[in-house]
Amino acid sequence: METVKQDTWNASLYDGKHSFVSNYGGDLISLLSPRPEEKILDLGCGTGDLASRLAGYDCEVIGIDNSPNMIAQAQKKYPHIPFFVEDATSLPFDSRFTAVFSNAALHWIKSPKQALTSIYNSLQQGGRFVAEFGGKGNVQIITDTIIEEYATQGISFNWENFPWYFPSIAEYTQLMEEAGFRVVFAQHFDRPTPLDGENGLSNWIEMFGDSFFKGLSENKKAMITQKVSKKLHPQVYKDGAWQIDYKRIRVIGIKE
Ligand code: BEZ
Repeated sequence: METVKQDTWNASLYDGKHSFVSNYGGDLISLLSPRPEEKILDLGCGTGDLASRLAGYDCEVIGIDNSPNMIAQAQKKYPHIPFFVEDATSLPFDSRFTAVFSNAALHWIKSPKQALTSIYNSLQQGGRFVAEFGGKGNVQIITDTIIEEYATQGISFNWENFPWYFPSIAEYTQLMEEAGFRVVFAQHFDRPTPLDGENGLSNWIEMFGDSFFKGLSENKKAMITQKVSKKLHPQVYKDGAWQIDYKRIRVIGIKE
């Protein structure tokens, strides 16, 4: 029997309170340097803002995401761009693109080998893969504190519910090479990221951290979130904003 996966993405909350995700993506577009008439896949396009900016360079852009909610919102906002619900580990695009672009999406994919093979197969010979996502140590203050709070509550944490894949640069570039890419650029850097308002951290956990709380009641989830915010406030809330410890990986690989 086919199991229907629940779509936990809230596209309106994403656009309303977390637009910084695509705002930061502007730098990655500069790294990509899109040229007119390129065929570009935006992998993990969310609600489509960066796909739309890429289309503004006279490129032919397709956006994919595995969340139907995000794709519906992207299609509504940008009806002139084709968007599809697709799984990044089994893309149906055979050597179609001159570039695969991906901002803040690959840390959601816990089968990186399959994703890299699928990206490689989607590119034309000589095409490039340009990506940014969370690297080793990303948001670790938050994840450590959530897991500590589980222990304080006497609940054992199931590591399968850890939502993300945050590799080191050595691990990821090795996987890229194994998939067939020539890695021409790789960087792992800190980018402290502000979240507005007193509720910024709880909103962030609600938006992105759902998987941490699989199997817990809504009450327990709200209680853990509140305790984590309270515990981190003295250390992470500065000058009217939460400053969270984003650590990014950026890579460029060429299909040769
Ligand atoms: C990130 O962009 O690094 C990120 C976003 C949401 C959850 C975890 C990490």
